[in-house]
This record gives sequence, C-alpha cells and structure tokens, in this order.
Amino acid sequence: MAPQVVRIAIVFLVVICLFLGVRSQAVPKGFGEDGFHRIQAPQMIASRAMSHAGRKACAECHEDKFKVTPHVQKGVGCETCHGPALAHAQNFETIKPKVPSTRADCTRCHARLVGRPDWFPQIDPNQHNPGKRCMECHEIHPSE
Ligand code: HEC
Ligand code: HEC
Ligand code: HEC
Ligand code: HEC
Repeated sequence: MAPQVVRIAIVFLVVICLFLGVRSQAVPKGFGEDGFHRIQAPQMIASRAMSHAGRKACAECHEDKFKVTPHVQKGVGCETCHGPALAHAQNFETIKPKVPSTRADCTRCHARLVGRPDWFPQIDPNQHNPGKRCMECHEIHPSE
C-alpha cells in the first residue's frame, strides 16, 4: 500500500477517535433515548414550582377588575402587570402582588419604538408629561 494512503488513514482514524471521545464526554446522560432531548428533561421542567395563577383564578375574587378596558379587551393578563401571583391567590391575606406605580411599568409597552406597529398606542416618554406618574391621568381599572 502506498505510504500516503496509510498516513491519511491514520489521520482519519485519529480524528474519528477524537470525535467519539469528545462526544462521549459532551453528550449528557439520557440524551437520545426518546428523541432529540434528554429523557429526564420533561420530568424536570414539569416538577418546577408554578408561580402564575392565570386570570381565571383572579376573577374569583376581583370580578370588578374585568370591566372592558383596552387592556382587558386585548387580553393583557393580570399577571403581566401585577407579576406572578399564584402565592397571593392561595394566600391573599399575607401575600400581596406588586401594584405598578412607576412610569417604567407602562413605558415598557408604550414607549415609542420603531419596531412597534403604528396602530399600537405609543408615546415619547420625554415629551408626554415627563416627571408625572401615568396613573395621575390614566385609569387602568375604571371605577365606573
Ligand atoms: C381568594 C381570593 C383572591 C384571589 C384568587 C386573588 N386575590 Fe388579589 N386580593 C384579594 C384580597 C382580599 C385583596 C385585598 C383587598 C383588595 O385590595 O381588594 C387582594 C388584593 C390584590 C391586589 C392589591 C394589592 C395591594 O397591595 O393593594 C392586587 C394587585 C391583586 N390582589 C391582584 C390579584 C391577581 C392578579 C390575582 C390573580 C392571579 C388575584 N389577585 C387573585 C383576594 C384575592
Ligand atoms: C396594564 C396593567 C394592568 C393590568 C393588565 C391589570 N392591572 Fe390591576 N392595577 C394596575 C395599576 C397601575 C394599578 C394601580 C391603580 C392606581 O394606582 O390607580 C392596579 C391596581 C389593581 C388592584 C388594587 C386596586 C386598589 O386600588 O386597591 C387590584 C386588586 C388589581 N389591580 C387587580 C387586577 C386584576 C384582577 C387584573 C386582571 C383582570 C388586573 N389588575 C390587570 C395595572 C394593571
Ligand atoms: C404588556 C404590555 C402593556 C403594559 C405593561 C401596559 N399596557 Fe397599556 N395597552 C396595552 C395594549 C395591548 C393596549 C391596547 C392597544 C389597542 O389595541 O388599542 C393598551 C392600551 C392602552 C391605552 C389606551 C390607548 C387608547 O387608544 O385609548 C392607554 C392610555 C394605556 N394602555 C396606558 C397604559 C398605562 C398607564 C400603563 C401602565 C400602568 C400601561 N398601559 C401598561 C399594553 C400594555
Ligand atoms: C398629565 C396627564 C397625563 C400623564 C401624566 C400621562 N398621560 Fe398619557 N395621555 C394623556 C392625555 C390627555 C392623552 C390623550 C391626548 C393625547 O394623545 O395626547 C394621553 C394619551 C396617551 C396614550 C395614547 C396615545 C395614542 O396614540 O393613542 C398612551 C398610550 C398614553 N397616554 C400613555 C401614557 C403613559 C405610559 C404615561 C406614563 C409614562 C402617561 N401616558 C402619562 C394624559 C397623560
């Protein structure tokens, strides 16, 4: 056999062995036993503690907050503004969810950005009543 063929064969062999060696170390246990993921992954994710209750749970005690407003109508969830509130729903006497109060709580959705569609209501926070709390003028949960 020609010597260059032997040398190339050796190079291939070394590369293949390296690949198999690294692969055996890098691929986590359980991977590939049931598709392209670790077999224990769904179990691990399902066992995480829940932190959101969902708006149906809120309706049980806060029916009055479901009056039709632009936010309710467009499906902005209670916990989108008030944060994860499962603990509160289960233990409302001791645990209170956050109540948005800063301008940043609102500008995260309403600050003008070129990436936001034109139909979406946007303001320039530097021009639109700077320094004042949004809730001084905008009622999120109308009492009427
Ligand atoms: C089992 C009844 C119950 C459930 C379920 C419940 N709450 Fe409450 N919540 C209360 C009570 C009672 C208060 C205190 C009185 C009040 O402010 O209306 C309260 C207060 C609040 C407050 C005001 C906190 C403050 O500091 O003033 C917010 C915000 C709130 N709840 C949001 C939610 C959200 C969001 C959900 C759904 C994930 C929810 N609640 C589910 C009973 C409940
Ligand atoms: C767009 C953001 C937003 C959404 C969505 C929203 N809230 Fe609120 N919520 C607020 C703000 C802001 C306040 C404080 C109002 C104020 O300062 O005048 C508040 C106040 C409250 C309070 C306290 C009322 C009080 O003054 O004692 C409760 C309870 C509450 N929200 C429940 C809910 C529930 C239930 C939902 C879902 C139907 C919901 N919120 C959805 C922003 C929001
Ligand atoms: C998670 C994103 C989100 C957050 C946070 C949020 N909003 Fe909104 N807001 C919306 C959506 C969605 C609409 C409905 C837009 C539409 O289709 O007209 C809306 C509508 C509005 C409108 C109505 C504009 C009109 O055409 O009448 C006002 C005013 C408003 N929001 C003020 C606020 C204030 C004040 C806060 C802070 C407490 C706030 N929003 C927080 C998503 C958000
Ligand atoms: C001093 C009162 C005042 C304050 C404070 C205020 N606004 Fe407004 N806002 C208004 C008035 C009045 C309008 C309607 C007239 C207009 O479009 O300027 C309006 C309009 C809007 C609109 C609708 C714009 C559109 O294109 O339909 C949004 C969204 C809005 N405000 C969000 C906010 C947010 C977010 C904050 C806090 C960062 C805030 N506002 C603070 C008075 C106020």
